[in-house]
Amino acid sequence: MGEHAAELPLLSGTLGPDVVDIRKLTTELGVFTYDPSYGETASCRSAITFIDGDKGILLHRGYPIEQLASKASFVETAYLLLYGELPTEQKYQEFRWDLKEHALLHEQIRNFFNGFRRDAHPMAILCGTVAALSAFYHDGVDISNAASRDLSARRLIAKVPTIAAWAYKYTQGEPFVYPDDELSFPENFLSMLFARPSARYQVNPILARALDRIFILHADHEQNASTSTVRLVGSTGSNPFACIAAGIAALWGPAHGGANEAVLNMLTQIGTRENIPGFIEKVKSRESGVRLMGFGHRVYKSFDPRAKILQQTYHEVVAELGLSHDPMFDLATELERIASHDEYFVQRRLYPNVDFYSGLILRALGIPTSMFTVLFAVARTVGWVSQWREMIEEPGQRIGRPRQLYVGAQQRDFVPFADRK
Ligand code: CMC
Repeated sequence: MGEHAAELPLLSGTLGPDVVDIRKLTTELGVFTYDPSYGETASCRSAITFIDGDKGILLHRGYPIEQLASKASFVETAYLLLYGELPTEQKYQEFRWDLKEHALLHEQIRNFFNGFRRDAHPMAILCGTVAALSAFYHDGVDISNAASRDLSARRLIAKVPTIAAWAYKYTQGEPFVYPDDELSFPENFLSMLFARPSARYQVNPILARALDRIFILHADHEQNASTSTVRLVGSTGSNPFACIAAGIAALWGPAHGGANEAVLNMLTQIGTRENIPGFIEKVKSRESGVRLMGFGHRVYKSFDPRAKILQQTYHEVVAELGLSHDPMFDLATELERIASHDEYFVQRRLYPNVDFYSGLILRALGIPTSMFTVLFAVARTVGWVSQWREMIEEPGQRIGRPRQLYVGAQQRDFVPFADRK
């Protein structure tokens, strides 16, 4: 390090590699670090989620995702993420009922929907309406008060699904369906999406369980782009509704929440099994940047543990709905097979990721592709509010403020119009 040499302390977490503490770098050495896209930077301390990408490990509050997906419900997982421990039976029931209480929207919020065009993207409706909640729930915006923070967290987890389902109903021109206290979290969501006043909606328990699993698997994923956005916005002292609306905006991008939609578009484009070899050749020759969507991951390099769980869920859904002759199922199975044998994919460690199966399951459930990212937002709201609360409660919390490597003009003097070339 030459003239800039200094001893930097190492910090150890409970799991994962040590972290170099650079907080004194600028004051002691007059330099700072350059890490665009933050690939090498821990932006916070967190006790919520741990990922080991090489080993395919994902833990929430220490519990493996496989155990949560098979043994817990989404609501139980939400409690765990939010409060750090699995709930007792009594606490679970209280939490469940509280979410049901909060699932209803202030009746005036209905008016918001009419302001949108019928062909609006449901993410636009979700983003705008969630931000607008701050205009209705004033008692939840005092972030210095722990009870108020908790109230907002619960309201958001409970109300985002209602807004999401109503966004869909609005774009379909169908009447809104109110939350039903008799139903579980995923059943209620399916009912708000698909029930009509003219026909009672019978929820299929296998499909409701599949949706619950998708929610569990998308609930949190440590400091990804949308979560980091929520933390950054929250660090300024913004109210929680505005913070979550910012998270929704970040999730909207195709590089983040939009990949499962891209998987279905790709499968539709391939069309039939005979077209697969030609498509794979295109991917391998990297012609016009074509990629096998739903494969590969920035962090998981041996396998995506969420994909393994959803692969099994997908097969359960296919069996329940009798979809084994669906061309999509055929295509998906064949692509999986090719990728697990073809040298190109094996060498680059490109395995199916969570989005490969979630898109297929959501389609099988009858959910339109424009709603895929919206469902992701419903689940991730739990992670966002948990991370937001953790950030606010961190002692010495300060506003987030990255630095930059300036590459613009040197200082120079202003030139009047008459002297400009
Ligand atoms: N299809 C074909 N080749 C690929 C793919 C793919 N899906 N992904 C990576 N590669 C190749 C890439 O061309 C490169 O090859 P080479 O070394 O010869 O140049 C090598 O694999 C490494 O790729 P990379 O771009 O450095 O990998 P990355 O870690 O930056 O990208 C990724 C990760 C997820 C953006 C990428 O794998 C991808 O674009 N996948 C398809 C989109 C997708 O499914 N996204 C959802 C991810 S899961 C989201 C979540 O966790 O919420």
